[in-house]
Order: sequence, then structure tokens, then C-alpha cells
Amino acid sequence: MKKAILQNGRLLPALESRLAEEFDVHGLWSEPDPQAFLQQHGERFAGLVTSAPVGASAELIHALPRLEVISSFGVGFDRIDLDAAKRSGVRVGYTPDVLNDCVADLAFGLLIDVARGISAADRFVRSGGWLKERFPVTTRVSGKKLGIVGLGRIGQAVAKRASGFEMDITYTNRRPATVSYRYESSLMALAEWADFLVVAVAGGSSTQGLISREVLTALGPKGFLINVSRGTVVDEQALVDALTTKSIAGAGLDVFENEPHVAPALLGLDNVVLLPHVASGTAETRTAMGDLVLANLRSYFSTGELVTPLN
Ligand code: NAP
Ligand code: 8YV
Repeated sequence: MKKAILQNGRLLPALESRLAEEFDVHGLWSEPDPQAFLQQHGERFAGLVTSAPVGASAELIHALPRLEVISSFGVGFDRIDLDAAKRSGVRVGYTPDVLNDCVADLAFGLLIDVARGISAADRFVRSGGWLKERFPVTTRVSGKKLGIVGLGRIGQAVAKRASGFEMDITYTNRRPATVSYRYESSLMALAEWADFLVVAVAGGSSTQGLISREVLTALGPKGFLINVSRGTVVDEQALVDALTTKSIAGAGLDVFENEPHVAPALLGLDNVVLLPHVASGTAETRTAMGDLVLANLRSYFSTGELVTPLN
């Protein structure tokens, strides 16, 4: 008999079809009254499939008394209540590594875009600006100082790309990683030093507001901020103020505090590049992530072990 899986939030159509071939999947998103549905049918489900932006709350985990495994589409787990999963003996699988390259490519794309004004220059050409004046000079990328906040799997892939641009690389983590890049324990010192600060830490309460008003002040009027981590890591109001008053030079953002809502003040600024949380969003990477979501479920139900366990 197919295992009963609850699906929290929509997934890629191809992944939904593949899940439905192997499992008895029910979409919680299709229920007009999810709470009433859970009260009546919660005990049916042995598995929960979700994604990084949707996650799994303690309330949901507790509403599924026979839940054994959660398989999440994404590497960020700031919306999965791991304590609740642990207390209920629920195993959690996620999709690390397969997205490193695409997320790092996009971080680097944002970095070059905001420094060289690619998106701004595109707007300039389309609006006829070129017929009237020259586009202003921009900022060189090659050879500059790159500070990486969070040198994990993705941060290391960013550093690799930066090496090709002959950048001087320093990073901060809570503790030094076993890498040859220079470690700086103080985020403030890193921001003061860097021309570009790329944020690739994990989200969640331990990094909430890490990129504070003070860090942005330290980055200074010639510094650029790139964030591919989570919107919560940056004090968004402080960032809006810094970009508006030009107390930093610019920012490239893939993630925001209240997605899909972007602070209206950012929309009119030319010194910020705004993307709709698409860093992992290539066909190749999303397929690989979907493969892992399936592989984790298959593996757990056949061997009791996950391929890429989070707990
Ligand atoms: P990872 O390998 O766990 O790396 C996270 C890094 O952050 C580690 O080096 C960790 O080092 C550091 N860190 C954690 N807390 C910190 C703190 N309070 N201060 C300083 N450094 C801290 O994770 P990953 O696979 O690279 O993914 C990183 C994050 O990227 C994910 O959690 C997710 O939020 C985000 N992401 C975004 C997208 C997107 O579409 N934009 C896609 C994928 C992932 P220490 O433990 O030594 O501190
Ligand atoms: C999302 C992400 O999973 O992996 C993460 O943590 O933020 C992304 O890869 C992706 O946008 C799917 O929703």
C-alpha cells in the first residue's frame, strides 16, 4: 500500500506528479479549512513534504500524531520547527549541496550587476536615457575585497567564483572553517574592511538582524551588500535608510523580510537589484532538489534512513 503523505504548500508540477506516482499524497493547500481537516484526518499521515519557504510549524507537526518523516524542498530550515520534530521523534530530510553552484552563481550575478549597474543600465537604454546622456561610471569588481558572512556550502562556492575574479577573500562564521581563506571573528571589522559583503549564513533566530544598522555603517558609502541568505538576517529598515541616504553604495537582494512583499521604498532606487528569491531556480537545480526530496522519502520508508538528514 502507498504511504500517506501530506503536502504542505505547492511544489513544482513535475515533482508533484512524481510524488503522486509513488505515494498517496494529499495537498493541505487544497483544504478550505486546514485545521478541521487535520483534526479529522491528521493521524493518516506518515510523511510530510514541504519546502524551505513554507516549512513545518510545531502546530502542524503535533497535528500529525503518526508522522515519521518530513522531506523538505530546500536547504534552509528556518521555517521547520526542528525542536518539535525532535520531540516527536520525526526525522527531517532536506536538499543541501545540489543548489550550491546555482545560488553562488546568482550571488555573483547580483554582485556584478549592482557594482557595474547592469540592470540600471538596461533601464537606462530602454527608457531612452542613452539618447540624452552617458551612463555614469560604475565600480570595478575584479581584484576587490570580498567579505563573506557565512562560509558554509554556499559561501565556499561564492569564494571559489571570487577567486576567478582575483578578489581578496575574508570570511566570518561563529568559528573558523577548515579552509585557507582568511578568518575574521568580528563582523564589524569584516564590514569595515570589505568592498563587497556577501551574506550566505543560515536564517533563523540566531542570525536575525545580524546585518544591523551599525554593520551597514561600517560597510560605508563605497561598500555593497549582497544577500542570498534570508531577509530576516538584514535589518531591512536600516538597509532602506542606508540605500536612500547612500551611506552604502548599493545592494543586491534575492531575499526579503516579508516575501513576496518588498519594502516600497526599495522599488524606486537605482542602487539596488531586486530578485524574487530565485537563487536556486534553474531547471537543473530544481530537478536535483526534487530528486532529493523523493530520494529522502523513498530511503526513509525502505531503510529507515534519510539520504540527506537534517536531524
Ligand atoms: P551551511 O553550509 O550550513 O552554511 C551556513 C554558514 O553560516 C556556516 O558556515 C555557519 O558557520 C554560518 N553561520 C551560521 N550561523 C551564523 C552566525 N550566527 N554568525 C555567523 N555565521 C553563522 O548552509 P548553506 O547550505 O551554505 O546555506 C546557507 C543558507 O542559504 C541557507 O540556510 C538558506 O537560508 C540560504 N539559501 C538561500 C537560497 C536562495 O534561494 N536565496 C537558496 C539556498 C539557500 P558556523 O556554524 O561556524 O557559524
Ligand atoms: C527555496 C531556498 O527552497 O533552499 C533554500 O533554502 O531558499 C530555496 O532554494 C526555493 O526557492 C524553493 O522554494
